[in-house]
Amino acid sequence: RLRYQSYPWSCAWYLKHGKMMPDDGLKRLGDSDSVFLGAVGSPDVPDTVTVHGLLLPMRRNFDQYVNLRPAYLFDGVHSPLRDKAPGSIDMHVYRENTEGEYAPIGGRLYPGTPHETAVQTAVFTRRGCERIMRAAFHGARQRRKRVTSITKSNAQLFSMGLWDDAFRDASKEFPDVEARSLLVDAAAMDFVRKPEVFDVVVASNLFGDILTDLGAIVTGSVGLAASANINPERHYPSMFEPVHGSAPDIAGQGIANPLAAILSAKMMLDHLGHGQSGNAIQRAVAKVLKDGKVRTPDLGGTATTTLMADAVLAAL
Ligand code: IPM
Ligand code: MN
Repeated sequence: RLRYQSYPWSCAWYLKHGKMMPDDGLKRLGDSDSVFLGAVGSPDVPDTVTVHGLLLPMRRNFDQYVNLRPAYLFDGVHSPLRDKAPGSIDMHVYRENTEGEYAPIGGRLYPGTPHETAVQTAVFTRRGCERIMRAAFHGARQRRKRVTSITKSNAQLFSMGLWDDAFRDASKEFPDVEARSLLVDAAAMDFVRKPEVFDVVVASNLFGDILTDLGAIVTGSVGLAASANINPERHYPSMFEPVHGSAPDIAGQGIANPLAAILSAKMMLDHLGHGQSGNAIQRAVAKVLKDGKVRTPDLGGTATTTLMADAVLAAL
């Protein structure tokens, strides 16, 4: 039995109130065990407003430093890659979610002049790197025991140098898990060339963001990509949301694929200790995809959002 509380904090709410959520919004969310977030964003509200007024404050203030994003090639789903068997692509990306390249540190100097200058400082802390690494290694222990760290220390000496050191140190605590480091550009290639080699991937905020869109599309559709923003210590609620955005190009047509949101709910149930229910949702989604009778347009079909959700409910 779950108790639900809904908040209408959307772009529509912003247009009425001039902010994305009330001043005590985070405090109110903090009363819950978890947050289930629909994608936000609308062409009539700048992205910076939605992102910095709602999404990123939630991730940072609730210290949701693990952004876990699975990519799995379901039976019945076509990968744009040739000859990929169902289940052959099966990875968990652990994206650092509270610092790195997303730290809101920097500024614009002499705006509008020829001397205009922009500084955006990436922030990498030993603590921040180590805790996401440890989470990744722990995760790998439940899987195929292989962690790949995504780096760019050949160019970014300082930040990625610390990242690499933290990875090497963390790997010593997990001698049973294979650890390897891969440059992000090479990783971009291998996500396409041989995605099956990846088990657990650990990446900084920006690299993880980019690679998880790639992971989503090689497993068929961003409409299937779920994610969990986790505060492992459970001092704060964790937050569950699809990887995709609000898809304004198809808004109101009722054809968005609901599976990414449904699979995010599965991750939420797992986190809340209802693993059996989570697994039941996973099986229901897998069955609907394998049957292939109901497919939204992103999967090559013509089914509506409602039809797809109904099919999952029926399978459940
Ligand atoms: C995501 C999104 C966000 C991110 C945007 C909306 C800031 O792309 O969740 O992947 O980059 O984290
Ligand atoms: Mn993204």
